[in-house]
Amino acid sequence: MQNPKHFLGLDQLDAETLRTILDLSGSLKNKTEVSPAPGPLINKTIIMIFEKPSTRTRVSFQVGIYQLGGNVILLDESNSHLGRGETMADTGRVLSRYADAIILRTDDPTKLKELAENATIPVINGLTDSSHPCQIMADIMTFEEHRGKISGRTIAWIGDGNNVAISWAQASVRFNFKIRFAMPSAFSLPLEIVSWVNQENGQVYITEDPMEAVSGADLVITDTWNSMGNQRSKKKQAALRPYQVNDSLMSKATSDAIFMHCLPAHRGDEVTTEVLDGPQSVVWDEAENRLHAQKGILCWCLA
Ligand code: CP
Ligand code: NVA
Repeated sequence: MQNPKHFLGLDQLDAETLRTILDLSGSLKNKTEVSPAPGPLINKTIIMIFEKPSTRTRVSFQVGIYQLGGNVILLDESNSHLGRGETMADTGRVLSRYADAIILRTDDPTKLKELAENATIPVINGLTDSSHPCQIMADIMTFEEHRGKISGRTIAWIGDGNNVAISWAQASVRFNFKIRFAMPSAFSLPLEIVSWVNQENGQVYITEDPMEAVSGADLVITDTWNSMGNQRSKKKQAALRPYQVNDSLMSKATSDAIFMHCLPAHRGDEVTTEVLDGPQSVVWDEAENRLHAQKGILCWCLA
């Protein structure tokens, strides 16, 4: 039996494959003809397991699967035996007998690994505590639609060293751009991610100074200071307060820099309303592109 084509992380696929997926996403987005031909996912069933809340990922995957002609089954811990201790490994073995792919949003990345190692159908990472690769595929698609190829450009991440930041660090290697992270040292990127980037000859620079990070950047990105599952801590809020993306910070980036946020946003914390709703913000295009990028991922996994 052929190994399933999983989409687990940007570090686990090569640059050429990721570019192929993005090209596929772009052509699906720009497909204008209304074809009576059956969609590429006709007669396919995709199981989506969400162990954490989601608006964009869940809805965009579900809509994308319908648009491609497939069916969706939604599971979570309360409506399946996952909440009663059935392992990811056993769940993966069983679901592989019924369905064609599994999308998992969970906390611990080892659960995703366990599922992928035991499923005989493709597994797609819908977010874990240490990555969010589907998001970054949509983000790169959005950057390139607005500003052309991302290769060689300078990106600034301001704020928490979280799952989305980690996937951006991995993307910088695969898509060949420079990324500067401005974050308090207590909430910086995990050391193993920095080591991986260095080993891959990536261009990641970490500073505690947000002004330094955004200086001359083509794209400024931030995300919540409290990711799902984190306890809201006053100490963390206080440490991240100087890392708010506001007009003053945006003015230090290039004059045509754009702003992205994976959403949901916390206006007045990591970003001001002026920036989020301002002329440099592309967050709604970014949210829309979740749909198109994931259709490309699904087609690649199931091709
Ligand atoms: N950006 C993102 O993944 O949003 P959801 O948590 O709503 O899916
Ligand atoms: N870092 C955020 C991303 C939400 C899409 C979280 O994990 O909650």
